[in-house]
Amino acid sequence: MIFDSHAHYDDEQFDADREQLLSHMKKEGVGTIINVGASLEGCKRSVELTEQYPFIFAAVGVHPDETGELNEETFAWVEQLLDNGKVVAVGEIGLDYHWDIQPREVQKKWFIRQLELARKHNLPVCIHSRDAADDTLHVMKEHAQGLSGVIHCFSYSPEFAREYVKMGFYIGVGGVVTFKNGKKLKQVVKETPLERLLLETDCPYLAPEPYRGKRNCSIYLHQVAQEIARLKDVDVRTVVDVTRENARKLFGINAKENLKEKI
Ligand code: NI
Repeated sequence: MIFDSHAHYDDEQFDADREQLLSHMKKEGVGTIINVGASLEGCKRSVELTEQYPFIFAAVGVHPDETGELNEETFAWVEQLLDNGKVVAVGEIGLDYHWDIQPREVQKKWFIRQLELARKHNLPVCIHSRDAADDTLHVMKEHAQGLSGVIHCFSYSPEFAREYVKMGFYIGVGGVVTFKNGKKLKQVVKETPLERLLLETDCPYLAPEPYRGKRNCSIYLHQVAQEIARLKDVDVRTVVDVTRENARKLFGINAKENLKEKI
């Protein structure tokens, strides 16, 4: 069974058929999903999804584009959500210099605060970093030592991947690895041990080939696993099994019960 380590089923693109789609996951070989909050509303809806579906867990945190929503009061509200037994990570948090929606100093401030929050609650982190390779690594070297987590939708060079693996982090791989212009990520996958890779959709975004441009969903991770298997010259079953165990270990999810282990 596939483990989708990063999905956004709270997105309005799923409003019309969310229940139907999610009720098919098991049959389609998808066993566990982490729904990742990006905004305050997204965090709330992520936790709600965990209450409706036993196989969905949540990460809660505020995406760099949305950090304008954060103040001491809303930050305390996010912290409260971490007490929920099905919240298994802080995320997605990080830096986004591609859109630059919030001033960089604001992004950095809340990135650091949320890293500290993860440390305080002994939780892993889901990192979003776009066009901000140097600053993200710099912040993480200063503030994320000893933490665990995943660099989601990894878009940097193999050198950066090596740095994060050395720090004990995982590399999140999704639909982009199937794209013709996904050469850099293909190289990262080749060079990174399978024991450090996680499968992720980031759905509804970034559907793999042959669905590129359409709405993404966890079922399409079979295509991503297939491409990773091809690049690493192993069978697809191995990719699915190893990445699932990686994710269970990282997020502390018990294999048999689909329950959060006491960390
Ligand atoms: Ni995301």
